[in-house]
Amino acid sequence: MAFCALVSKKALGSALRSGAADLGSGLCQIRRLQTFSLPDLSYDYGALEPAISGEIMKIHHQKHHQAYITNYNKALEQLDEAIQKGDTSKVVGLQSAIKFNGGGHINHSIFWKNLAPTNEGGGEPPKGALGWAIDADFGSFEALVQKMSSEGAALQGSGWVWLALDKELKKVRIETTANQDPLVTKGLHLVPLLGIDVWEHAYYLQYKNVRPDYLKNIWKVINWKHASDAFDGEAA
Ligand SMILES: [Fe+2]
Repeated sequence: MAFCALVSKKALGSALRSGAADLGSGLCQIRRLQTFSLPDLSYDYGALEPAISGEIMKIHHQKHHQAYITNYNKALEQLDEAIQKGDTSKVVGLQSAIKFNGGGHINHSIFWKNLAPTNEGGGEPPKGALGWAIDADFGSFEALVQKMSSEGAALQGSGWVWLALDKELKKVRIETTANQDPLVTKGLHLVPLLGIDVWEHAYYLQYKNVRPDYLKNIWKVINWKHASDAFDGEAA
């Protein structure tokens, strides 16, 4: 996940006023506030067409994902200031913004890697251990696709449908999360292998209100190689 480290404005001002730091070695002793930046995509915006239009991908990445990152960074800075002030009410009040915007950053960072152009393997069913696990837990790859599509279509409002590795049960399973809740909110034992964004901003410009059509076509550009690598890394 892309990030850069900044010293919070408050921490910097405070340190300089107190004479505790100079712009040389002193700054290295100030606690650094980590902020995040938009990760690059490994493919062009139009490379997933016709399954997902270039216009959707550009707006989704540059506007929506960027907005989550901007607001997450802002919330982190506010949290840092609130902690320094000992303002517990503010700390607690910031939690929903952190969950929503931090979750949006986590989820979209996964989502971009879950997609690939068809000439780079997009849509090719998983092979190896993940393919065998899907067969064992869902009966077939086709059954998994149908069940994930159905659960994604049935999810009320905005959210995500996930293929997860349950590290406790050692099984792959489907989960859904509302809003921008990341999969980790359903348990630390769940590892996201594949996340599909079912917010309207992910499909409306092309599919209008017909979410099932979006869910029918997205499988043509799913990067199962990435999901398999994640599975192999966690299941080993
Ligand atoms: Fe999204």
